[in-house]
Amino acid sequence: MATQSNSQQKPDTNGAKLEDLTADNLTQHVINISSNINNERVKFIFSKLIQHAHDFIRETDIQRDEWEASWQFLTEVGKASHPDRQEMILLSDVLGISALVDIINSRQTPGSTESSVLGPFHNEAHLFENGDSISSNGAGETMLIRGTVRDLRGNPVKAALLDIWETNGNGKYDMQDPEKDGPDCRGKFYSGEDGSFYINGVRPVDYPVPYDGPVGVLLDLLNRQAYRPAHIHFVIAHPSYEPLTTALYDRESPRLVLDPVFGAKTSLTEDIVWSEDLEMAKKHNTKPFVRKVDGQDRTGFWLLEHDFILADRQAVKQRKTHD
Ligand SMILES: [Fe+2]
Repeated sequence: MATQSNSQQKPDTNGAKLEDLTADNLTQHVINISSNINNERVKFIFSKLIQHAHDFIRETDIQRDEWEASWQFLTEVGKASHPDRQEMILLSDVLGISALVDIINSRQTPGSTESSVLGPFHNEAHLFENGDSISSNGAGETMLIRGTVRDLRGNPVKAALLDIWETNGNGKYDMQDPEKDGPDCRGKFYSGEDGSFYINGVRPVDYPVPYDGPVGVLLDLLNRQAYRPAHIHFVIAHPSYEPLTTALYDRESPRLVLDPVFGAKTSLTEDIVWSEDLEMAKKHNTKPFVRKVDGQDRTGFWLLEHDFILADRQAVKQRKTHD
């Protein structure tokens, strides 16, 4: 069926009349001729987009050279985007747009674990058993990750599917590492009967978001640093509860406040502690390693403990179509 954009028929002007367009009436005219559609949600979104974009241009008095620089920048962001390098998502991340979308969509219930940004490095992962290691030999310093999954009433949530991913000790995700041709430092596993889980990985480190492209130029322009505070990502799913996308952040990282993608939150920061409890290591199948502590060789492992609280399933939210 022919649409208006390719039809030879007389187009529907939606009541709009030809008039001299000015800085004052142009916006409403663009909204009017963009509103001749039946989809109320699309109509609402684009009316707001046009209104706010035009207001932004009027308020900042955008000059022609600045407008040219803007579209040239967006062209470069588009050119730099491909399945292994999500420059467009990165732009959304560093402008705080992804964090805002996350906050609005997480439908936080008081008492449940806070959400955090998904980020661009989620990928398919193998299924593991509790006590397995998600990390290949030499990927970094061993870290035991353990805790429980519970609901808001304190009941254990058994068979919750935990999907986790993290950098190796060099600050790279497997998909960024040319030496890796499969999943590493990522895995899925289920909580047990009592809601508990334990898995072995490596201590994550601060790592930079990709800054050798146009978004890096933008960060430089804004005098911002590119390193994310060390963290480990979690997606936790169970049919009876709201899905949770979150991350745990290393309290020792000096970059928690400067997170370039605004994912770090107080309730999601944890101490990663050095443990020399070899009984605990044995019980959780954790492989201790030797590390210098105060000039002495000590045998132990890193320990990250956190309990996750899932919110009950909520009714499907209606999408706004008007103020
Ligand atoms: Fe990350």
